[in-house]
This record gives sequence, C-alpha cells and structure tokens, in this order.
Amino acid sequence: MKVTIFGTGYVGLVQAAVLAEVGHQVCCVDVDGERIAAIKQGQLPFYEPGLAPLVAHHLASGHLGVTVDPAMGVAHADLLLIAVGTPADQDGSADLQQVLAVADTIGQLMGNPKVVVTKSTVPVGTAQQVRQRILHRLAERGLDLACEVAANPEFLKQGAAVMDCLRPDRIIIGCDSERALAQLRALYAPFNQDHATLSHDKIVVMDLRSAELTKYAANAMLATKISFMNEMAALAEQLGADIEAVRQGIGADPRIGYHFLYPGCGYGGSCLPKDIQSLRHTAASVGCDTPLLTAVEQVNQRQQQKMAHTLLARFGPDLCGRTFALWGLAFKPGTDDMRDAPSRPLLAAIWAAGGRVQAFDPKAMERTRQLYGERPDLQLCPTQEAALAGADALLICTEWQPFRTADVEQIKALLKQPVIIDGRNLYDPRQLGELGIDYYAMGRPS
Ligand code: UGA
Repeated sequence: MKVTIFGTGYVGLVQAAVLAEVGHQVCCVDVDGERIAAIKQGQLPFYEPGLAPLVAHHLASGHLGVTVDPAMGVAHADLLLIAVGTPADQDGSADLQQVLAVADTIGQLMGNPKVVVTKSTVPVGTAQQVRQRILHRLAERGLDLACEVAANPEFLKQGAAVMDCLRPDRIIIGCDSERALAQLRALYAPFNQDHATLSHDKIVVMDLRSAELTKYAANAMLATKISFMNEMAALAEQLGADIEAVRQGIGADPRIGYHFLYPGCGYGGSCLPKDIQSLRHTAASVGCDTPLLTAVEQVNQRQQQKMAHTLLARFGPDLCGRTFALWGLAFKPGTDDMRDAPSRPLLAAIWAAGGRVQAFDPKAMERTRQLYGERPDLQLCPTQEAALAGADALLICTEWQPFRTADVEQIKALLKQPVIIDGRNLYDPRQLGELGIDYYAMGRPS
C-alpha cells in the first residue's frame, strides 16, 4: 500500500521505517533540505536504537523514499499522514503552525480525493481544523474533491520507538468516514496480528475528538503516576521510610501495577511536560478546572529542582572552586534527547552558584555541545570514570545501564569526596553507607 508521511521527526521517521518494513511503499516529506540530504546519506537527525539500519535498508530496498518536494509526496499516495512537530507555544498551548502548513500544502497540491491523518499529538478539534484548511485551499482552486480526515495518535516511547511501532499495544483510529477507516485498517493490518493474542484486535475505533483526547489522557495518566510517586518519595524521606519498598508493595496490586512507578528527578522529554501544559490550556479554553493536572505539573517542577536543593544543602550556597561529576544528560536512557531533561535545571543551578561540572552521557555529548557550546565551567568527558576524577560529588540524572552496574568502590576512589546524589535510585543505600559513601537518593534512607 502507498502512504506519504509529512515530517521526519521521531514519530514520522520511525513510523515510515516500520511501515516500509512490513512492505508498504512509503514516501517521507520534510521541509528541511539539510535533514533530508543527511537521511539519504544515512545520517539520522537523532539517535534511536535500531532505526538507522532499518532506514538504510529500506532506502536501499526502495520501500522508503525521502524528499523535500511536497508535490511528489501528495502525488505518491491517497493516504497522507501528518507527523510534524507541535511545540509548546509561549502560553503552553500546542503550536499548530506546522500541522496547518502541511494541510495548506495538501489543499494546494491534491488533484484527487485523499485521506489525511493526524499522527502528531494535537489538541482536540485539530483534525476537523485540518479538514477545513484543506477544503478552503481546494475552494480557492475552484476544486471540489473529497477529503476525509482521521486522528491516529502515536504512542511510541523514545529509546524503544522501533519496537513500540512494530508491536503497538493499541492502534487508535478516530474518524467519521468509512473510507478513512478502511484505509487505516489496511495500513495497520500487518501490526494487528499478534500470534500470542490472536483474538485481540488492537484497533480501537472512535470519533475524531475522543481519539485526540485519548492521546493526552494517556500521557497525563503517566505523568500523574510519576508525580504521585515523587510526592510519596518526599514523604517517605521525611518519615524515614523507603520508597523502593513502598513501590514494590503497591505495584503488586494488579489495579496499580509495577509500571511507571519510579520516583526520580522529574519527568522530562518532548512529550509529557508539553502535553500536560497543552491539555491544561485546552481545558482552560473551555472553562474546565483541572486541579489534578495543575498539581501534577507543580510536583514535577519542584522535583526537577530537587537534586540542586540537595546539592546546595550539602555543600552550601557558594560552589566556587567546586567540581561535580554529572552522569546522564539525556532525559532518559536510550536517547540523545535533552528536551526538558532534568540535567538542565541542575546544570543551571550549579553554574549559578559558581560550580564546575564534568559531564558524561553515553549518547548525548554532541547534543550537549550544541546546547551549551564551549564554556569553562563545563567539561565533557570521554568516559564515566573520567568525569569522576577529583570531583566533590557524583550527580546522576539518567539511569543508563553502565551507571547502574558501575563499581561503587571505584567511584569512591576517584571522587575527591565520597558523595553521591542519585536522581534515579540506582544503588543500595545500605551498601553505600557501609562503604562510607554519603548517598542521597529519592525517597530512600541515606
Ligand atoms: C512518553 C509516553 O511514555 C509515550 O507513551 C508517548 O507516546 C510519548 O511520551 C509521546 O507522547 O510521544 P517518552 O517521552 O519517550 O514517552 O518517555 P517516557 O518513557 O514516558 O518517560 C518520560 C519521563 O518520565 C522521563 O523523563 C522518565 O525518566 C520519567 N519517568 C518515567 C519517571 O520519572 N518514572 C517512571 O517510572 C517512568
């Protein structure tokens, strides 16, 4: 089946590669010529495990094509997916400029009926807005062509995006036309066959607005779980309890479940923070009070400052002459993405207090260089051990596997002072205490 995808970000490029993998003919369109040229050379705009070989394979196999030419993309298929960015606007609402620009382009170029699908995370009502824009452009051209829309949000997780797309746990299709539904059913048919659960149809069909809200509700629920656990962790600290034991204790209840119950230095990334803000904005625009979402966001903002507070409480407000090792810059393991990463407010707080940082991340070093450039108070180290050398403390922001399995005695030997402030609860507090390491974790006894 032929399909065109607008946007080569996480959602667009991963989806394109995976659709090509199951045999569809995929054309990817992006306005960024440098990005398209780089993809053709095998240079992807971001790191995502397993994606580069898949893209390279299908560029060569002919199942995947990338272009800056929207006319080519619109002509290629009757099914068009929009997967461009929806960054947060200054007031927290989702900025739909890129989505609507694609709708304009489609309306200006289409010469036969199309089904246009929003895959980006977009506020409720956007699919209908996309349809209106396209019909408006068609009317300007004096054309009366059928244009159906569908809302088909994506649920992939960075770091596991290829597998998430290959094995989705659900496929949400919001639509109000049989033609759109039939096309999307055909597109996703190869992903709807799970040999382990043959009877389970992953496709959930609903109206457009419910599909759009489903995406926000899912991310809001995930963020709520995290903020809840972060609040419980703060309480555990004050009460002398261990949040790790509490996590296991509550997770055993299947109604709660073990997933997404890890306290930490706050949720980050390009989705959760932005989507909570956007949902709050949408709610406010219809006069709906959402005190729970407000609290989820407030707890997260406080949590992203927590490591800095611990650090300043331990070393005092003046960090001049002090150097800190920082392990983990990306917002989570498996990615080089630093959007809303908890490492960033921590870096800012250390620098504001006059301290220096020796940082290491397995994937996000280049991203960090692009963000902060050369500066005397930031040294990007080639290894995690090099970051420790002579530092006053180790700070951990991302739970990369090599940090988890690090030799704590070696950490102690390399640091100037045996202090670890761990935003991801990687180690056993008792073991570190016995080694004479001052260990500050999230909601665990120190
Ligand atoms: C999130 C959702 O998990 C995906 O389902 C969704 O499709 C995606 O947003 C999106 O909207 O595109 P992602 O941002 O890749 O995916 O990352 P998550 O794995 O959700 O992690 C988000 C943040 O929460 C990270 O900073 C992570 O460290 C933090 N987190 C996660 C915790 O602090 N505790 C946990 O137990 C889990």
